[in-house]
Amino acid sequence: MKQKLAIFASGAGSNAKKIIEHFKNSPVAAVALVVCNKPHAGVLDIAAAAEIETALIERDQYKKDGYAQFLKEKGIDFVILAGFLWKIPQPLIDAFPRGIINIHPALLPKYGGKGMYGAFVHEAVIAAKDAVSGITIHYVDEHYDHGDVIFQATCDIAPGDTPDQLAEKVHQLEHEHFPRVIEQLLTGK
Ligand code: GAR
Repeated sequence: MKQKLAIFASGAGSNAKKIIEHFKNSPVAAVALVVCNKPHAGVLDIAAAAEIETALIERDQYKKDGYAQFLKEKGIDFVILAGFLWKIPQPLIDAFPRGIINIHPALLPKYGGKGMYGAFVHEAVIAAKDAVSGITIHYVDEHYDHGDVIFQATCDIAPGDTPDQLAEKVHQLEHEHFPRVIEQLLTGK
């Protein structure tokens, strides 16, 4: 049976787009739902263009049960965070053991934690004059950017690279690897 994926995203949704495209005609899984907390986020347009159901969530209900019951009613098997910025509440973690993964735009455990997202991460990496950065795909637990690491990939930072240029390199890595790593997890291969 095809597994049903839910993507949680708060922003532009370029990763969501790649994942949707990857699983479009897949026998393994399909993106069944895009969950978003921002009414005007680009990811909602991406989902609409792909004719995928969307759910705009609100904070009180989210804090109560993380919409776990709603996801179960929709038959969701696996949850993917792709640029989603709210912390995952315990009831949602309990409802999907080893069933929620996140992508982070740096090499965890460096540059993780509350407030470390998107451009803030790349600004911190450039300010520290690091020579490499990259991506981390990891299981989600009750702490920000903390669960077991599934996959990492790196990119070089050239002297003079700006945070925007680094963001571009990191996005390329994300797009190249995230859909493939999800498929590997789902198939166990
Ligand atoms: C991605 O780079 C993702 O790694 C990051 O947000 C971006 C979303 O881009 N996530 C975090 O910073 C989470 N801490 P997208 O909306 O184009 O996919």
